[in-house]
Amino acid sequence: MALISKDTNAAKQLLDKGEVIGLPTETVYGLAGNATNESAVLKIFEVKNRPKFDPLILHFSNFDKAKGYIEEPSEKLLSLVDRFSPGPATFLVPKKKTVSDLITAGLPRVAIRIPSHPTAQALLKSVDYPVAAPSANPFGYVSPTSAQHVEDQLGNKIPFILDGGNCAIGLESTIIGEEEGNIIIYRKGGLEIEAIEAIVGSVIQKERSSSQPAAPGMLHSHYAPKVKTKLLPENSIEILSLNPENALLLFKKPIKKTASNNIFFLSEKGDMKEAALNLFKRLRELDRQNFSSIFVELAPEAGLGRAINDRLRRATNS
Ligand code: TXA
Ligand code: MG
Repeated sequence: MALISKDTNAAKQLLDKGEVIGLPTETVYGLAGNATNESAVLKIFEVKNRPKFDPLILHFSNFDKAKGYIEEPSEKLLSLVDRFSPGPATFLVPKKKTVSDLITAGLPRVAIRIPSHPTAQALLKSVDYPVAAPSANPFGYVSPTSAQHVEDQLGNKIPFILDGGNCAIGLESTIIGEEEGNIIIYRKGGLEIEAIEAIVGSVIQKERSSSQPAAPGMLHSHYAPKVKTKLLPENSIEILSLNPENALLLFKKPIKKTASNNIFFLSEKGDMKEAALNLFKRLRELDRQNFSSIFVELAPEAGLGRAINDRLRRATNS
């Protein structure tokens, strides 16, 4: 069992000592360690059971603090950094030698994120090193959006979880970089693509490559519950819900009456923000009940719906 506590000072002391702890952010909880301490970084991979080819994000309280670790980003990318930091965005920027190959998996760029969560901010302000943090879930599983989620899966492997309550966004950060002058989205996430395009014009989405993913969050099967999870075929709610071994996770409550207790919603009213917030929570809840299959319905493909659908497709491996 980990200690779940709001004490940022205690969290700092553990990070200073090379320990790995749970860290709240507005997107999802991270598994945090001092990025300049090799044994702390190795511990992150070990606790998560994460392959070393999957690089880690460095977290700072503000972008200026990243300067010793990165080359100056292009003006275009910098305009996005300025507009969306702190927030649910991660930027891929050419790295300096001060960043170990263990952090970037030997890649030439390093991922930088400035979370806005006040507790994360307080902790990151108090340290003078970058904090490496992948999402605090076992590799391939759904990300945690509360301290209890972290405890449920990693509590026996870490000493401490900094409690920042429920995550306000509930989806991982949007990963943004640049190639040959074009802004590239490597992972859809809590920052809507529409908001990015409003600043820099149209962007290129580079996702779902399966063999050599630029970001393993892009691996085909990822964010997956243990129970067999499939996309809900059209017009199949009535027939599938007849089998009590099926769970149906719908985007919103259908107009037609659904009285079945194996039907669940991301947001009863169909509110996109609420749906994003509930996504990982619901998948976890359903995974714990004894259903033999989970059928998920896609959200409308716009705004956060794009990131929700990305996660649902990966959860269903389709
Ligand atoms: O919202 C988030 O981004 C959360 C919170 C804790 O900050 N973190 C998170 O980390 O989702 P993680 O490791 O679960 O996912 C980060 C993704 C991975 O798929 C990784 O492959 C990719 O970012 N990534 C990290 N560094 C990279 C790099 N240098 N080049 C390409 N992809 C990178
Ligand atoms: Mg992750």
